[in-house]
Amino acid sequence: MNIIPVKNYQDMSRKAAEIVSETINTMDKPVLGLATGSTPEGLYQCLINEHKEGNISFRHVTTFNLDEYVGLHGSDPNSYRYYMYDKLFRHIDIELENTYVPNGVAEDLEKECTSYENLIQEHASIDLQILGIGLNGHIGFNEPGTSFTSRTHIVELDEITRQANARFFKSLDDVPTQAITTGIGTIMESKKIILLISGENKAETVARLVNGEISETFPASILNEHSNVTIIADVASLSKLSK
Ligand code: GLP
Repeated sequence: MNIIPVKNYQDMSRKAAEIVSETINTMDKPVLGLATGSTPEGLYQCLINEHKEGNISFRHVTTFNLDEYVGLHGSDPNSYRYYMYDKLFRHIDIELENTYVPNGVAEDLEKECTSYENLIQEHASIDLQILGIGLNGHIGFNEPGTSFTSRTHIVELDEITRQANARFFKSLDDVPTQAITTGIGTIMESKKIILLISGENKAETVARLVNGEISETFPASILNEHSNVTIIADVASLSKLSK
């Protein structure tokens, strides 16, 4: 894994935006894998700015989000569909029908997982996948213990994940207990991956990712086996890395 150390959150977002913009500007029909959470918000803001300045268009771009909460409709402010609309899509010229997020209120959730996975395969994989990382090493919502060969599936969310995400909800009780996530196998098929990490609270996570063993107990560790992963991390998150 290639690590690009940056000063702070702002620089992480700008560097990531440069890479995403280059992909969009040099490819005919780029397929982007998108993440949610607080980490990529700055990246999305940079992309909006680039678009407003006329440097980038999303008309030819298709996007697949990593995950969605089970039980939240796309109009719910805490759903990831809503997050994407609010923080990126409504500010740019992307065709909304080319933006895919799993449907967390599908009548048949298993079927939704299969069709979402098939849809990604039909697009011949993700060209550039943007990732954040959970404190327990989750990527997407693939919690510790998830098989490295998993495909899009339903997960039971870890307590640590529900607590970390409770800040977006009225109370911990309101945080869904399940989600749909693309699998680790799905993510690993992306041609290129950028992993964004910021903040001191992620320092242990980064240290384990870079220096720890590759194990299903720490899902992101499999990224060590991908041939094209770039970690863009600020100095605070790199503070516990052994030199
Ligand atoms: C969320 C998302 C992940 C995200 C992670 C970290 O639960 N499902 O895709 O990377 O947790 O979130 P944050 O960036 O807010 O720390």
